[in-house]
Amino acid sequence: MSDRYLSFSGTAPGRFLTRRLGLPQPAPLRRWSPEHPALAGGEVLHLTAGKPAPSPADSPSAVVLDATGVRDVDGLADVHAALHPVVRSVAASGRIVVLGAPLDPADHHQAAVQQALEGFARSLGKEIGRGRTVNLVRLTDRAAAESTLRFLLSPKSAYVSGQVIEATGAPEQAVAFDPDRPLAGRTALVTGAARGIGAAVAETLARDGARVVVLDVPQAEEDARKLAERLGGSALALDITAADAGGRIAAELADGIDVLVHNAGITRDRRLANMPADRWSSVLDVNLAGVLRTTDALLAAGALRPGGRIVATASIAGLAGNAGQTNYGASKAGVAGLVRSLAPRALAGHGVTVNAVAPGFIETRMTAAVPLLIREAGRRMNSLAQGGLPVDVAETTAWLAHPASGAVNGQVVRVCGQSLLGA
Ligand SMILES: NC(=O)c1ccc[n+]([C@@H]2O[C@H](COP(=O)([O-])OP(=O)(O)OC[C@H]3O[C@@H](n4cnc5c(N)ncnc54)[C@H](O)[C@@H]3O)[C@@H](O)[C@H]2O)c1
Repeated sequence: MSDRYLSFSGTAPGRFLTRRLGLPQPAPLRRWSPEHPALAGGEVLHLTAGKPAPSPADSPSAVVLDATGVRDVDGLADVHAALHPVVRSVAASGRIVVLGAPLDPADHHQAAVQQALEGFARSLGKEIGRGRTVNLVRLTDRAAAESTLRFLLSPKSAYVSGQVIEATGAPEQAVAFDPDRPLAGRTALVTGAARGIGAAVAETLARDGARVVVLDVPQAEEDARKLAERLGGSALALDITAADAGGRIAAELADGIDVLVHNAGITRDRRLANMPADRWSSVLDVNLAGVLRTTDALLAAGALRPGGRIVATASIAGLAGNAGQTNYGASKAGVAGLVRSLAPRALAGHGVTVNAVAPGFIETRMTAAVPLLIREAGRRMNSLAQGGLPVDVAETTAWLAHPASGAVNGQVVRVCGQSLLGA
């Protein structure tokens, strides 16, 4: 689906009209491509709250503010003092990344001001405009958060804004990887990958060097096979709600799985009062029970290799709730619960992480089927005033799947342009 409003509002008459009418003015986002692997603008400006600032480049592509040492309200004034003079100069589609510390349960002053950074970052994300994003990363060890910072400071995170990401897991032993193909030698299984977001995930993981298995229902086998051929991977025609789905995957991937992406999902919208039991159960079965069952079967079969990555797909509808989606919202909130519970214990000793992406409004066949007015509202009601693309979810998945992302565990990261839905 093309976003005609985004194209129109970028023309001279469009700009004039939308400004006069007070309508949203989405900025075209700079996304990663081999030709544009970096953000536009000058060098990244690194600041530390409470320390003298270096003189800024003309128009920094990003500002990283280290606020990990902020422990009291005076320290928050240092955050203001650091960003106030530079915020305007950050390039279009640029980034502000605030580094915070985990909340200290033994120090309520530290906890208060570190939590304050969350409200600060989210508010700045809502006002900064011009396709710029603001995120907060809580970390204990900067080196362990390296892959997260690399992602946030690249065009790959174009549609990730207003997020609080904890990169506080145990720092891993240094893992060797090729920076251009970090997943080389690894096998990734992506469910529901014949089209939409799943297809983009498969392509992006293949770009990063993974051997990809494209799983989809038998009806979509043709598309799955074509994609797998193009990516040099293989296709697996399988309904993940089948009782033996986990066993069949484990048998098919006898050498083990490094990256397991639970992406398959469906909607069957109706308000609860009008929802027959079959619409309820089909959504819960694909989106949650299927995910739980296949995860259990693969873990029980020891199919996930050490250092493995599980990335499940939640949705902002599950985090914030959405009218007409009690079934879908329940299933996707369930995915978040699964991630939070499994992450600390799953196979933490083996370096396995479990995280979720929670897409907002992404331009796919699923959202193309939404009635026009609701679709238009979904597109605009976020800080970037536009829908995301499947590749935005795919890049976020690739960051979580990265061999150096071991410190990120149990996170539910929204890819929603900072949607107003439960932001
Ligand atoms: N598009 C959005 O805006 C959006 C927003 C939030 C979350 N999501 C989630 O992202 C995921 C992908 O969404 P999409 O928009 O690409 O959807 P889509 O409908 O375009 O693609 C979903 C794919 O999953 C496959 N699938 C469905 N049931 C399956 C099953 N039982 N076994 C195997 N494969 C199955 C379908 O055949 C299809 O290829 C879903 O989990 C969805 O809930 C999407």
